[in-house]
Amino acid sequence: MSGFEFYMPTKIVFEQGAIRKVAKEGKVLGKKGLIVTDGPLLKTGILDPIFKDFKAEGMDYVLWSEIVPNPRDVDIECGAKFAAEEKIDYIVAVGGGSAIDTAKAIGAIKENGGKCNDWYEGNLKKKITPLICVPTTCGTGSEVTHESIVNNTVTMVKDCIWGPEVSAAVAILDPDVLVNLPKKILASTGIDALTHAVEAYVCKAANPFTDALAIYAIRLIGESLTEAVENSSNEAYVKMMAASCMAGAAFGNSDVASVHSIAEALGGYYDIPHGVANAMMLPEVSRLSIPGAPQKYADVARALGVHTEGMTTQQAAMAGVDYMEMLCRRLNIPKFSELDVVDPKDFERLATTAAEASETEDNPVLFDKQDFIDIFTRLYKK
Ligand SMILES: [Fe+2]
Repeated sequence: MSGFEFYMPTKIVFEQGAIRKVAKEGKVLGKKGLIVTDGPLLKTGILDPIFKDFKAEGMDYVLWSEIVPNPRDVDIECGAKFAAEEKIDYIVAVGGGSAIDTAKAIGAIKENGGKCNDWYEGNLKKKITPLICVPTTCGTGSEVTHESIVNNTVTMVKDCIWGPEVSAAVAILDPDVLVNLPKKILASTGIDALTHAVEAYVCKAANPFTDALAIYAIRLIGESLTEAVENSSNEAYVKMMAASCMAGAAFGNSDVASVHSIAEALGGYYDIPHGVANAMMLPEVSRLSIPGAPQKYADVARALGVHTEGMTTQQAAMAGVDYMEMLCRRLNIPKFSELDVVDPKDFERLATTAAEASETEDNPVLFDKQDFIDIFTRLYKK
C-alpha cells in the first residue's frame, strides 16, 4: 500500500423525513438559495415540503429545473448565468447524479468564472458555491464526491470538473424519498452504487479507509437492493440510502475503474442512463478483472452473501461475479445487446474513449483499446 489522502468535508444529515431540514441548513449558508432539480421530479411533489418550509421561514429562493440526464456543458453554463444574475448565496440540489453534478458545476462556474471547458484539469481557484445535496436516488454518491461529471457537447465525451473545491457543504439523506422512486430507477441506481463500491474496493487506488466503506456498502446492498425493489421495505430503503453514500465516499477517495470507463463512454455517446450502462458491463468487466485482485473479488462475493465455503479464492471470486450477473437479470436491467441505439460501427470510437478514461489505469487488470472492442463485441452477441 502506498500513501493516500482521505477527504470528506461534507456534513451528512441522515434521517427518515430529513428533507424537512433543508430550510434549516439553507439559513446557515446565506440569504438567497437556488434550488436545482429536474422537471419530472418537480411534478412528483417531492420538493413541496422544501418550498413549504422556505415560505414558512420567509426565505428567498429561485428555481432552476432545466436538468437533463447526462448533464451537458451548455445547460450548465445557462444555469451559472442564471445563478449570477439572481445573486444567489447557496444552492440546493434535489435529484439524482445529474441534478447534483449540474449544481456542482453551476457553483464552480459562478465562483470561478469561465466555462466548463476551462475547469477540467483540477485547476479550480475557488470553492464552489455552498451546496446542499438531497439525493433522491440510491446510486450517485455525488453528494459526497469531489467531482462533477459533465457531458462535453463538442467532443461527445464525459469530462470532469474535480478537486477538493467541488465538495458539497451538506448532504441531506432522507430514505423516505425512495418510496416513490420508479422501481426501474431504484434498480439501476442501486447497481450504480454497487459498481461504485466494488470498483472502489478492487481498484489500484484503494486504501484501508475506502476499503472499510466500500465492503460495508457492498454488504448493505447485498442485503437490501432486491428487498427495496421487490418488497418496498422501509428498512431496505434506509440501507440503500446509506450504502449509496458510503460507496460515494469510498470511490471519491479511491477511484472507480473500467466498468465506469465504459459506462461514461456509453453515456457520453448514446445518452444511456448511467446506472443501466454500469449494470450492463459490471459482470463481464469484473470477470476479466479477477486476475488482478482475486482475493478482493472473493471478499466482494462474501460481502454480497454468497456462500463460498470450500471454494478456492478464484472460485469464490467467480461466484461473486455470477451473483452480480444474476442480480442484474433479476432486477430486469436490459442487456447491452437489447439496446436499440448500439451500433457495432461505434465500437472502435467507444473503445478509444474507454481506453483513454482516467479510471482505466486503476482497474485491477489494464485493458487496452482492443480489450474494450472485444468486450463490446462479446456482449453485443450475448
Ligand atoms: Fe457511477
